[in-house]
Amino acid sequence: MAKSLAFVTGFPVAHSRSPIIHRYWLERYRIDGGYDAIEVEPAAFAQFLHDLAAGRTGFIGGNVTIPHKETAFRLADFADELATELGASNTLWMEDGRLCATNTDGYGFAANLDQAAPGWQAGKTAVILGAGGASRAVIQTVRDNGFTTIHVVNRTFERARELADRFGDAVFAHPLPALKEVVEKADLFVNTTSLGMSGENPLPPLYLDRLAADAVVTDIVYVPLRTPVLEQASALGLRTVDGLGMLLHQAAPGFEKWFGKRPEVTAELKAMIVNDLERQE
Ligand code: ATR
Repeated sequence: MAKSLAFVTGFPVAHSRSPIIHRYWLERYRIDGGYDAIEVEPAAFAQFLHDLAAGRTGFIGGNVTIPHKETAFRLADFADELATELGASNTLWMEDGRLCATNTDGYGFAANLDQAAPGWQAGKTAVILGAGGASRAVIQTVRDNGFTTIHVVNRTFERARELADRFGDAVFAHPLPALKEVVEKADLFVNTTSLGMSGENPLPPLYLDRLAADAVVTDIVYVPLRTPVLEQASALGLRTVDGLGMLLHQAAPGFEKWFGKRPEVTAELKAMIVNDLERQE
């Protein structure tokens, strides 16, 4: 049997850590497969999907990253409910001759919290800072895990409002100045922005001291691993979870689809990625 090959595609794609993750698992489980990064220009992406579905690329499926996630969703023959609500897919596979699409970012977010902050779903109120592409899967997942009040706070109010409209009655949109009020007694705080990462992007007051005493604070940014938001939260004695676990866990369902084995996110794998990130800094 020909060896199974999967891909990650984006434009650019060189920064992707997915090959390290999947090759680690291929080796760990002694699976005779491969995983390659393939850069595809936006203008060529539809043809790439067409060739994939027709079995002409040699790949059995793969991961999709920026800027192809929306196109992957649109052009798949079948998209599951998660991808359909998000309007974006990060994982593709072939099934019964059809190109199938899902989105595992939300799964990665939840599995990371399950591992690092067990019991996080007991919360009812969440505050999500940011309304970009990355915040969508977070909002969806927090809602699907039983949070009944989800405040999306964003510099550009209009973007937060669009997401509140999309994700239903539990989601409320706010401009940045509302942060002080909505963090009051909240159980979960998620940063999905690059705020605090550079001099041009100073961190505004977050009022994390107003969160519930047992609140969980997490960041989906993982470079650096300890972001300014997490540092603030730790200093206040709050539970914190870094964003690298989300990247690792979101990879697991795809690996299982392509290679038939549910892989484990190990401390060794996390250390490998941390090493790689440190080398690039
Ligand atoms: P991604 O798809 O990775 O989430 P994005 O769509 O560029 O990236 O979104 C980045 C998020 O960070 C947005 O919520 C953005 O706010 P706007 O919607 O107002 O642009 C937020 N963000 C980035 N820089 C910011 C800054 N200096 N102040 C406040 N918010 C900022």
